[in-house]
Amino acid sequence: MTVLVVGATGSIGHLVVEEAIRQGCTVRALARNPGKARELPAVARVVVGDVTRPETLSEAVDGVDAVVFTLGSDGAGKVGAENVDYGGVRNVLRALGERTARIALMTAVGVTNRTGSYNRATEAHDWKRRSERLVRASGLPYTIVRPGWFDNNRPDQHRFMLLQGDRRQAGDPSDGVVARRQIAEVLVHSLISDRAIRKTFELVAATGPAPKDFDALFAPVDADPPGALDGVHDMPNMPLNDEPQRVRDDLDAMRTHKFSLIP
Ligand SMILES: NC(=O)c1ccc[n+]([C@@H]2O[C@H](COP(=O)([O-])OP(=O)(O)OC[C@H]3O[C@@H](n4cnc5c(N)ncnc54)[C@H](OP(=O)(O)O)[C@@H]3O)[C@@H](O)[C@H]2O)c1
Repeated sequence: MTVLVVGATGSIGHLVVEEAIRQGCTVRALARNPGKARELPAVARVVVGDVTRPETLSEAVDGVDAVVFTLGSDGAGKVGAENVDYGGVRNVLRALGERTARIALMTAVGVTNRTGSYNRATEAHDWKRRSERLVRASGLPYTIVRPGWFDNNRPDQHRFMLLQGDRRQAGDPSDGVVARRQIAEVLVHSLISDRAIRKTFELVAATGPAPKDFDALFAPVDADPPGALDGVHDMPNMPLNDEPQRVRDDLDAMRTHKFSLIP
């Protein structure tokens, strides 16, 4: 399996690169700054591209079987959230054209919380949630992972809890914690487990042993209904009719694309 990692130089992305190599994948790492990509394992093929510039993405997607998105626009405010967290996903999905690829998208626990101070300041939740909607609308086989707070877990917290409905919205580590390496592990495993297809879940770590069987981990999670905009148990607090016209246009374009015919 050839896996493209979008966000490969980031704190999660570089671990996804390592994990995918460990699991025997051929890895392609998208990097806008080749200097930063020098720290990635040498067997990963670095492709230079910027997700906000669609014309730079064709080489990255050529021949890929799967894409893992771990983009982050932290510090770039509303514009960054729209252009990178959302626009980056849209542009890579568009660049895939008619190719069928497994998608693993990382967003965040609390992504459906629209009224908290973080989202009011950055709109990062809203734009990440819109990127989730685009992935669902693409018709591609996907898994959406919403991790808890990074690296706040204790050394005995190896067990994974996959939650749904996004009801943990305190906006601090009491919402759940998980190690960066664990997030990378789940993202990569989701690409190769049919039990992870069309599923959206929050990911946190708990006291207990690490899973041995990822199919068994993903199996009890409810799948999103075909054609759904949001995760199966999410709150309906982002009505499509209230969405910006450009977002609705993107969704329509994604839905009517040829690959939306894949069952
Ligand atoms: N912190 C937490 O506890 C927590 C919990 C759950 C979810 N999250 C979410 O996780 C995200 C952060 O993940 P992280 O720590 O891995 O982020 P990060 O270290 O900042 O990495 C972000 C990645 O995105 C890439 N990127 C940004 N703009 C790009 C562009 N225009 N074209 C191509 N690549 C681009 C960056 O490339 P460069 O290296 O070139 O910058 C980098 O590889 C945040 O958005 C946050 O919402 C965080």
